[in-house]
Amino acid sequence: MQRAKRLSLIPPYLFGEIARLKAQAIAEGRDLVDLGIGDPDQPTPEPIIEQLNHFAHNPSTHRYDESNAGVPEFLEDVATWFQDRFGVTLDPRTEILELIGSKEGLAHVVWAFLDPGDVALVPDPAYTVVKVNTLLAGGEPYELPLLAENGFLPDLTNIPGDIVKKAKLLYINYPNNPTGAVATREFFKQAVDFARETDTLIVHDCAYAEVGYDGYRAPSILEIDGAKDVAIETHSLSKTFNMTGWRIGFAVGNPDALKALNTLKGNVDSKQFAAIALTGGWALNHARNDASLELLKRRRDILVDGLNRLGWKLERPKASFYVWVPVPPGHTSATFAKELLEEASVLAIPGLGYGQHGDGYVRMSLTVSGDRNGERLEEAVRRIEQHIPLRW
Ligand SMILES: Cc1ncc(COP(=O)(O)O)c(C=O)c1O
Repeated sequence: MQRAKRLSLIPPYLFGEIARLKAQAIAEGRDLVDLGIGDPDQPTPEPIIEQLNHFAHNPSTHRYDESNAGVPEFLEDVATWFQDRFGVTLDPRTEILELIGSKEGLAHVVWAFLDPGDVALVPDPAYTVVKVNTLLAGGEPYELPLLAENGFLPDLTNIPGDIVKKAKLLYINYPNNPTGAVATREFFKQAVDFARETDTLIVHDCAYAEVGYDGYRAPSILEIDGAKDVAIETHSLSKTFNMTGWRIGFAVGNPDALKALNTLKGNVDSKQFAAIALTGGWALNHARNDASLELLKRRRDILVDGLNRLGWKLERPKASFYVWVPVPPGHTSATFAKELLEEASVLAIPGLGYGQHGDGYVRMSLTVSGDRNGERLEEAVRRIEQHIPLRW
């Protein structure tokens, strides 16, 4: 049996060594504080589960969803939410597309827009889906470094002319995974101007829009005048309502771009279970997840303040699940993650896994299984203090 050659284009699994050490630690019965995965550990709020029960009892949801772009009630609910949340008016018939989670949309948009040889501008470090699908589609990812000195925003003024000519997509993601950075409206305006001047489609990944702390509310790129001419934005209920397993999200923005994405999707999937879509739409306008956010904030404060006591100089991230921690002098992301795991039984993800510019960092996630009120984060800090020699 011969696999397609394109599968060999997928970069090696950079978390492989950490996954092996994690399996070994678990086999040895060690008590790991797992700051690895970014997946809410708290359950979906009960009223949302009850709504699913309600919609699942309606037999009309049991069949193929034959709508064009998603269950019409879901699209209406998204439009209502978007107006309330961002002050942006969307036409539910043309400017919203239901997705089976935002990962699905981010992967497929690449296939709808890139021909072999075309360039996708992708941040580095980044959530890897757009880069890997660009490689699979025969395109070329061009990496835009996300550096601390630029607030982890890409420099759009410094891209070589021949790259700009071949660029079809610009992928950005704020609040950001893995850096926890947020973007200003000024940056979004720059990106919109860039896209207009270079005839590029912006794909803004807004998966963490609702995971904000201390009153921070992430903006949508569609708040910028003219953004709908050049941008789509993907959203997800995964992180907002602890619904990662449910697989429901949506894309909004430029109607032609959404139509192209939908044309592709129509030949790949048959949409999400309508009861889940209806529940998702209901949740956007009726449900809240304040207890989870409070818990995440408490964990964030314990972790950031604790690491700062040990000599780091971290700012508390305003949004996302992630603390992007510079490795101490003398380490790479891989050696530090290995030492954390082997000496302190604390699992963090080496930043190199998100791209070469991630190599000076490890990512610590606040979605820690088994943590009730921050005690596992306290334990992580205590273990780092006891077991990791830090020379600043
Ligand atoms: C930056 C970013 N975008 C998108 C996703 C995908 O989320 P989902 O497919 O569950 O909507 C994730 C998941 O971790 C993510 O971190």
